[in-house]
Amino acid sequence: MPETVLVIGGTGAQGVPVVKALASDGKYAVRVLTRSASSPEAKELAAIPGVTIFEGDSYYEPTLLKAFEGVSYLFANTNGFAIGEKAEIYWGTRLYELSRQFGLKHFLYAGLEYASRLGNFNAKYRTGHLDGKGKVVDYIAAQPTEPMAWSVLTSCLYIEGLSELLRPFPNPSDPETMVFALPIGNAKMPLIYLEDYGSYARWLFDHPERSNGLELHVGTEDVAWRDVAAAFTEVTGKKAIYKDVTLDEYFSLGIFPEPDAIVGRSAGGGNDPTLFTFRQNFSGFWNTWKDELTKRDYALLDEILPTRVKSVKEWMVKVGYTGEPSSVLKDYRDQGFFANNKQ
Ligand SMILES: NC(=O)c1ccc[n+]([C@@H]2O[C@H](COP(=O)([O-])OP(=O)(O)OC[C@H]3O[C@@H](n4cnc5c(N)ncnc54)[C@H](OP(=O)(O)O)[C@@H]3O)[C@@H](O)[C@H]2O)c1
Repeated sequence: MPETVLVIGGTGAQGVPVVKALASDGKYAVRVLTRSASSPEAKELAAIPGVTIFEGDSYYEPTLLKAFEGVSYLFANTNGFAIGEKAEIYWGTRLYELSRQFGLKHFLYAGLEYASRLGNFNAKYRTGHLDGKGKVVDYIAAQPTEPMAWSVLTSCLYIEGLSELLRPFPNPSDPETMVFALPIGNAKMPLIYLEDYGSYARWLFDHPERSNGLELHVGTEDVAWRDVAAAFTEVTGKKAIYKDVTLDEYFSLGIFPEPDAIVGRSAGGGNDPTLFTFRQNFSGFWNTWKDELTKRDYALLDEILPTRVKSVKEWMVKVGYTGEPSSVLKDYRDQGFFANNKQ
């Protein structure tokens, strides 16, 4: 009998490839916790042998007490954009406690960088959706590695975002040229191919002798945006440039239809004064990458996943990238955010 992995966030952009990697060969049974078993994402996963859908709210204790029954492993990607930093810290630590309470073998947390600490607590780096997960990672790292193993899989921007939040726009003065406009100067930053992300999650569960107590920072490549534009031209034959913009210019591009909307509306309905706006979140976020506060160990990633996609250009060729918009984040699809974003 395969043992069960409970997956929190399994219907999301990040969770789907994790569920697929875990369910690829029958070694694990996968239980996906979702608010709706009838969403297209949940239905697609339910059709995979070994995957079952468990309907309920991931941020509600009575649901979790039922969802944890009979489980041996947990993969948790809490949704900081849905619940805000404060609730993300609460639920990340609570999920660890429940995992111990239910006698799980291995706890795998989907982490992000603790940007504030990396930036010596300078306010310019403060990013709710990074710091919340970063604080949970510190809590997890303070726990023993037995009787339950723990691992952290720290990611970065999804490479798939090149078709959504990171996509190029036609240059208004020369529509034949596509413009990648970001407030990141000449810095190199990591992007991660989500199918490989799923393979890393699988590797962490399969290799507790190496992964117990490990915080694995993954990425496909640390890339400068002028090189993303150059790769786009090489692969598609279309002209492209990178434009370094200020944060104010970036937020006026229409990438976020409402830059001053509150992030984390599921916690306190937007009235919680600790919640950030998109502008606040992504100012800290881009400052963190612009100042190159963190680096990946690509030699280690090559060793763990020799078949990994190793560059943005390789990814563009592999998926037939055109620069055309397409949906990546479930939450944005659900809110009509993407469909309403005309830019
Ligand atoms: N965008 C990026 O490049 C990136 C990179 C690294 C990390 N992250 C982090 O990943 C997290 C988001 O996951 P994702 O990228 O997979 O996003 P997504 O595609 O929008 O998926 C959202 C996930 O959150 C779940 N969820 C549970 N309660 C929710 C609620 N009240 N409102 C909205 N969604 C809820 C959804 O499940 P159901 O709808 O099925 O219930 C779904 O599984 C965030 O913490 C973000 O910081 C994002």
